[in-house]
Amino acid sequence: MLAPGFIDVHTHDDTNVIREPMCEPKISQGVTTVIVGNCGISASPATLDGEPPDPMNLLGRRQDFQYPTFRAYVDAVECAKPAVNVAALVGHTTLRNNVMNDLFRPAFEQEISSMKQTLVEALEEGALGLSSGLAYASAFDAPKEELMSLVAELHPYDGIYTTHLRSEFEAILHAMQEAYETAKSGDVPLVISHLKCAGAGNWGRMTSVLADLDTAVKKQDIACDCYPYTASSSTLDLNQVTDEIDIFITWSEGLPDMAGKTLKDIANTLNVSLHEAASRLQPAGAVYHCMADDDVEAVLSHRLSMVGSDGLPNDPHPHPRLWGAFPRVLGHYCREKELFDLETAVHKMTGMSATRYALANRGFIKAGHFADLVLFNPKTVKDTATFSAPKQKATGIESVWVNGALAWHQGQHTGRREGRFLKRTTKGEGV
Ligand code: ZN
Ligand code: CU
Repeated sequence: MLAPGFIDVHTHDDTNVIREPMCEPKISQGVTTVIVGNCGISASPATLDGEPPDPMNLLGRRQDFQYPTFRAYVDAVECAKPAVNVAALVGHTTLRNNVMNDLFRPAFEQEISSMKQTLVEALEEGALGLSSGLAYASAFDAPKEELMSLVAELHPYDGIYTTHLRSEFEAILHAMQEAYETAKSGDVPLVISHLKCAGAGNWGRMTSVLADLDTAVKKQDIACDCYPYTASSSTLDLNQVTDEIDIFITWSEGLPDMAGKTLKDIANTLNVSLHEAASRLQPAGAVYHCMADDDVEAVLSHRLSMVGSDGLPNDPHPHPRLWGAFPRVLGHYCREKELFDLETAVHKMTGMSATRYALANRGFIKAGHFADLVLFNPKTVKDTATFSAPKQKATGIESVWVNGALAWHQGQHTGRREGRFLKRTTKGEGV
C-alpha cells in the first residue's frame, strides 16, 4: 500500500531534529513530517537564564536551547538537514520564560506586549501558530485573558492555536470551554492536543466530551490530536500522583537508580508515601496508565481527530508511542480491532493533518505535490515498541521517501536526509 508520508502533528522533536538528524524513531514509522513546539514548549524563540524549567526540560538541557529567534531555529534545522520535514509552533510557556522571572503568576501587561512582539516576529518567519500547556504549573497561572492577548496576533497570519488543556481530569469540559473561547476571541482554528479523559474517576466520559466538541464545532473551527495508547507520559507531576493508576518512572535526577520501576515499588523500597517518593525523585519522567480503552477508541475514531505521537525523544525509557504510534493505528486499531477502514486511518495521519496545518502540497499523493511517501504492508504493519522495550522499529514499513529521496528501506535507514523546514502558508497558497 502506497500512502502519503505520515505527518506527526504532535511532537517534542524540537532539538532532536537538529541533534539527531537521522530521526530514526520517526522515519522508521513512515513519518515524513513532524510538527514541533507543542504543549506550550518550543525550542524557539527562547532565551534561557539557567536550566529550562519544567516541562521545557523535555526538549533538552540548557545548551540545547540555542535559538533566541525563530529565524535562528529555521536556519539550524536547514543546516542540520534532518531526514524529515519540520514545521513549528511557538510555545506560550517558552514566551513566558523569556520575559518572566517567576512563572507562577499571570504575566504583567509589559511582559505580554514583549511576548506578542516575539510571537509576531516568529509568525513573520513562518511559525504555524501558538501552542499552550496550561495544565503545567509553569503556565497554569496564566489567565484566559493572557492567552487571548497572544491569540489575537494569529489571525492576520492564518495562524493556529493548539492547547494542552488546563485539565484533562474532572474539569475537562470547563477547560475545553476555555479553549473554545480563547480561539474564538482571535477568530482562529483550534486544535486540542492529545484529547483524553485522564484519571480513573474520569473514565467513560469521552462520549460526553466528544458530544461537547460536536456542538462547539458547529460554531467554530476545531480539531484534536490523539495517540493510540491508554497511557500518557510527561515529567513527573506531583498533582498526578495517586494510587488509582500505575505510574512508571522513566528517569529521575533525584534518585537516578530508581528509574525503570513503578512509583509504588519505589515508595515501598523507601518505605515512604507515594507523594514523598515522588518528591524525592524530582525532577523525573513518568508514564501514567491513566486512560480507559473505550475512551481512547472513541477519540481515535472521531471524525475530527488526527494522529500525533507526543513522543518524548530525550527520555531514556520513552513511552512506546515515540517509535510505535503510527504503525499501531494501522495494525492494532485498524486491522485488528477494525476501529475504522484503512483509508480513514491514513487520512487521519496525512491529508487531514496537512489541510489542518496548511502544509502546502503535502499530505496527498497528487501531481504537483512533494513526494513524501510510505510503502507499507497492510497485512503485517505493526508496532513492536512496548512499555518494557520501547525503542523498537515497527515492522511492515517497507520504504519511506521524503521529498522524493528514499530515506528508509527494508528496515534500514538509507542515510538520505532530505527533510525541509516547512513555513506556514497563508490561505490561497498551496493546499
Ligand atoms: Zn501535552
Ligand atoms: Cu505534548
